[in-house]
Amino acid sequence: MKKTKIINFYQLKGGVGKTTLTCMIANELIWQDILERQTTPEEPIYVNDPLKVLVLDIDTQNSISVLRDEEIQILQAAATQNEVRFNELIEKKPWQKTLFSRYEHLYSTYGWRCFDEIMINPSESSVQKAIELIQSSEYDYIFMDFPGSYDQQYTGELLLYSEYLFIPCDLNSQLDVAAAQKFLSDILTVEFHNLHHIAFVANKFRVNSIRNKRNQELIEEATEISFLKTKVKYCEYFKTEHLTTVYPRSVDLNLNTKQISVNHHMGSIIELAREIKSLK
Ligand SMILES: Nc1ncnc2c1ncn2[C@@H]1O[C@H](COP(=O)(O)OP(=O)(O)OP(=O)(O)O)[C@@H](O)[C@H]1O
Ligand SMILES: [Mg+2]
Repeated sequence: MKKTKIINFYQLKGGVGKTTLTCMIANELIWQDILERQTTPEEPIYVNDPLKVLVLDIDTQNSISVLRDEEIQILQAAATQNEVRFNELIEKKPWQKTLFSRYEHLYSTYGWRCFDEIMINPSESSVQKAIELIQSSEYDYIFMDFPGSYDQQYTGELLLYSEYLFIPCDLNSQLDVAAAQKFLSDILTVEFHNLHHIAFVANKFRVNSIRNKRNQELIEEATEISFLKTKVKYCEYFKTEHLTTVYPRSVDLNLNTKQISVNHHMGSIIELAREIKSLK
């Protein structure tokens, strides 16, 4: 029976990277699992029993669900070779054509399966469904993407199921540093069901900023909670290349040669997935 790990990137402050990190790490864990099972680099393998990862989209803005729906529509139109529909869809977001060619290649060659995603409405029945999934052992990892506010009814209950809670924080932003400390004093009063690990994760990290070290020390001393070792660098690419829910962003695929390599923008995402995997 699988032992599901429940992971949340959570912080009430908006725009700290909860959704971005959730999507990237969820797919990265699956991709790393595929690579680890590959015996030689030349020989891709088809994974029969892939790592199963679920993202519960709890944010009523449902950003992950909206994106996933669009992406699935494009995939389906491509699969049925419904060219009119496909062209119509990619006209709105031309960059998705490349992503889907990549998705297709990973799917047919590596047995790629991206994370599952379920939208959780603020209703008792929807939250109940989420709890059943959390307790079902059907998944290796479940991520919950929460909104940046406490206002949403019912969903607070889901937070109590967090086992690994990571609080994204931009160490270069005095607002984020203050928010991190405030948030932690609130969250420590919460009685979680089974919390294993709580940590800050530096996101949008600027290597050359002199504030980083001082702010990290300040937060760690004030809260007695550490930062994860991995710092996720500030990366313009995250914005310009668009978020996707269907493709592991650490893979760079040359569509002509079908050679894959590591996307150098994603070094800290690869590292962060490894660090999270290694936590007991
Ligand atoms: N490491 C990074 N480098 C550069 N930009 C980043 C990074 N992480 C996140 N961003 C950008 O920051 C913005 C906010 O990210 P995101 O939507 O993931 O935050 P959030 O915490 O989920 O926000 P909300 O509270 O509104 O749900 C996005 O434009 C995203 O591309
Ligand atoms: Mg979000």
